Amino acid sequence: MAITLKIQRFLGEKKWEQEYRLEVETGMTVLGALIKIKETMDPTLTFTASCRSSICGACAVKVNDNAVLACETLLADLLKRYASDTLTIAPLGNFTVLRDLMVDWQPKYDRLKKIKPALQPKTEFSASEGCRQSKDEFKKYSKNSECILCGSCVSECNKSNLNSKDFLDPFIFSKAAKFVADSRDKDAVAHLEPAVKDGLWKCLNCQECAAKCPKGLSPAEDIEKMRIATFEKKMSSNEGSDHAMAFYDDVKELGRLDEAKLALKTEGLKSALRVPVAYRLMRSGKLNPLEQAKPIGDIEKVRAIMKAAKEKKL
Ligand code: SF4
Ligand code: SF4
Ligand code: FES
Repeated sequence: MAITLKIQRFLGEKKWEQEYRLEVETGMTVLGALIKIKETMDPTLTFTASCRSSICGACAVKVNDNAVLACETLLADLLKRYASDTLTIAPLGNFTVLRDLMVDWQPKYDRLKKIKPALQPKTEFSASEGCRQSKDEFKKYSKNSECILCGSCVSECNKSNLNSKDFLDPFIFSKAAKFVADSRDKDAVAHLEPAVKDGLWKCLNCQECAAKCPKGLSPAEDIEKMRIATFEKKMSSNEGSDHAMAFYDDVKELGRLDEAKLALKTEGLKSALRVPVAYRLMRSGKLNPLEQAKPIGDIEKVRAIMKAAKEKKL
């Protein structure tokens, strides 16, 4: 079957879309198609790949706006999913494009250094004895070791799309979470502090990073775990943690949110800046500051669930 690949090209300041028509062979992957184009039609087409086995992470691209590993994604599956003989291929989002489908990882590696991505062993360990831990302790972070630095989570991150300047990339939070969870590391705060400073509480919890990670990691969940760790380590509060605590207190007290007080509890006096928004909500009948929020009928059940969740560390 013949298909059309519309590939986003970039060279210098020139950006354009180029179409290639090719025959799909049995078992052909997106990477196989790119290699075929380069070898038989257009040697100038530029992309990165190495292992062809879903290990090195070098080949991630966007197909029809979704990040995939080109070497493990079968064209036949994509044609079936999109019910079309035409696919668009573009470089990962939230990266600087160097040429065609090749993106610049250096700024990401520079940011990665912020969270101190290396084990700082506790003083009780020695070179002769090594750093011992139990199987259960190992399991707490072993999944995070499977990240192959493909960048799919970065490309899909809605927070990074909005503004990546105040937000580390999703995989960087997962790296930080790995060392926070590692019982051999002597200072979880050393990894948590830079994470808080660079956006831990700004994640939108959209779950796109988890949905698109080819290795089944969940940066979104790792971010949640690190948020909990900041409370356990009694790290200084900020608007994000205050907002979470305001939610928690409201649900515990009322079984629901008290919208009228939420901004005040989260932002303190700064919430005065939200007066125009509050006024609009009042006018549309969505907010009544005189209404006293009352606990829901089954509040004790809600409190029992919260207590059980806290005890089981859910
Ligand atoms: S859950 Fe957070 S980190 Fe993950 S994609 Fe959404 S905004 Fe980004
Ligand atoms: S967390 Fe997953 S999607 Fe993100 S870089 Fe690592 S392997 Fe890729
Ligand atoms: S070429 Fe290595 S992961 Fe695809």
